[in-house]
Amino acid sequence: MAQNTHLLNPGLLRIGIPQIDEEHRVLTGEFERLLADPDASYGSETFVTIVTQIAASLRVHFSHEEDIMRTLPMPDEELSRHIKAHDAILAECFQLQEAIMFDVPMSQSDVLLMIERWLVTHVRTTDVKIRAYLPSKL
Ligand SMILES: [Fe+2]
Ligand SMILES: [Fe+2]
Repeated sequence: MAQNTHLLNPGLLRIGIPQIDEEHRVLTGEFERLLADPDASYGSETFVTIVTQIAASLRVHFSHEEDIMRTLPMPDEELSRHIKAHDAILAECFQLQEAIMFDVPMSQSDVLLMIERWLVTHVRTTDVKIRAYLPSKL
């Protein structure tokens, strides 16, 4: 499972807002835990614990990130696109938790790819755009 950890390069994930960068670090740490733990297969107790933690942390993180973005000179359209992306991730999070609850079979690799999209790809493709609106860049 640990073969995917090379994707997690903290240097590439830095946005430049210390609180956000720290929250991203914690979230990618949770993902690494999931990849590295041989007991964390889909539906296992360890998996449920980590996914529950990720869902809770994501909810808080998105709310922090949205509050910060509202203070930046980001165009409304871009802000609302970003918030929609957060809402879509939270909806997937909820669906995953529901699937676990109802024992819906899912492939471990599909689940890991989905969580990677939430925690790594979103930062690289969407959060990274926040950089353009930081005071040091204006
Ligand atoms: Fe983020
Ligand atoms: Fe975001």
